[in-house]
Amino acid sequence: MSDMPLLKVEDLRVTFSIRPRGAWPWTPSLHLQAVGGISFELEKGETLGIVGESGSGKSTVARALINTVPASGGRVLWNGQDLLQMGSDARRRHRQDAQMVFQDPLAALNPRMKVGEIIAEPLTTHHPDTPRAEVKRRVGALMERVGLLPNQINRYPHEFSGGQCQRIGIARALILNPDLVICDEPVSALDVSVQAQVINLLSELQRDLGISLIFIAHDLSVVKHISDRILVMYLGRAMETADAETLIDRPVHPYTRSLVQAVPIPDPKVELAREHRVLEGDLPSPLRPPSGCVFRTRCPRALPACAEAVPEMQEVGPGHFSWCPVTAGEVVKGLIASVSGVRTVVD
Ligand SMILES: Nc1ncnc2c1ncn2[C@@H]1O[C@H](COP(=O)(O)OP(=O)(O)OP(=O)(O)O)[C@@H](O)[C@H]1O
Ligand SMILES: [Mg+2]
Repeated sequence: MSDMPLLKVEDLRVTFSIRPRGAWPWTPSLHLQAVGGISFELEKGETLGIVGESGSGKSTVARALINTVPASGGRVLWNGQDLLQMGSDARRRHRQDAQMVFQDPLAALNPRMKVGEIIAEPLTTHHPDTPRAEVKRRVGALMERVGLLPNQINRYPHEFSGGQCQRIGIARALILNPDLVICDEPVSALDVSVQAQVINLLSELQRDLGISLIFIAHDLSVVKHISDRILVMYLGRAMETADAETLIDRPVHPYTRSLVQAVPIPDPKVELAREHRVLEGDLPSPLRPPSGCVFRTRCPRALPACAEAVPEMQEVGPGHFSWCPVTAGEVVKGLIASVSGVRTVVD
């Protein structure tokens, strides 16, 4: 049991049925494949960053992992147990052991509840027999741990700043001592100055409590410091995955390389001198994804063959996988050198 990953996701697919607005009752539903076959493993104590632009299916993956949307294909194994086959006891335990932190901190908190009640709610719901004094003690200790003052326990969410509300959301996610916390764009709604504080807090908590984290964001700059591994998604598919350093220093997939180029370099001289290439075009509709490689319509390296077959996973280094046969082939032939996030010989 012990060497089993906490989470193993195998070819996860999620399809939504959509009825166009104003459609006649007999009009057939449309099928939108939000996640089209994603696989990864998460070890205990590991942090996985998931990046991709809006609509790439990141939140849908997160929701499938906590069982709030059903997978239409593939499997999610939690400690080796298939989520969809779990009995009610295992399901209840999973609901406690996998917690979420959401994007909009204020909207995620019930405005009519006091902060102490909000943080305590998962505990009082799942363990209603917990003595009041014990609930209060745990809430107070957690508030302190996330950087809030215990004497703020009777305040309401609107009395707090965005960053403080996110700290409340984090305390609430931790009250049941979960094994996994999924943070779905936890800092996107916050000021840049506050973002780093919340990321640092999550990183500290992850280290001190030994929990696993899934950290979802639009861009690499947010996930690169906190993640052990990074998974890059585009239109519901995986594009590339590797340990964080490799993915940022030696990206192989053209999409990852465009994300790496968008990460600002702290040295202004280097930043001004380097070439910025913005990804052209919009994300295609997930209702009509391009044939073959879904990224090919925006890919600077696309070949006619990319419209034919759905790309298969290619191993381009130890633990480094890319779904672009064109650039993966070049890596294998040794054509792509270290790109240091800026240029490569194939540019
Ligand atoms: N309940 C739903 N019903 C129908 N379509 C949905 C539903 N939830 C998500 N989608 C669609 O699935 C696709 C993926 O959405 P998802 O929210 O997972 O993307 P995301 O990567 O989290 O985007 P963002 O960065 O904007 O949060 C989108 O095209 C979205 O419109
Ligand atoms: Mg989302």
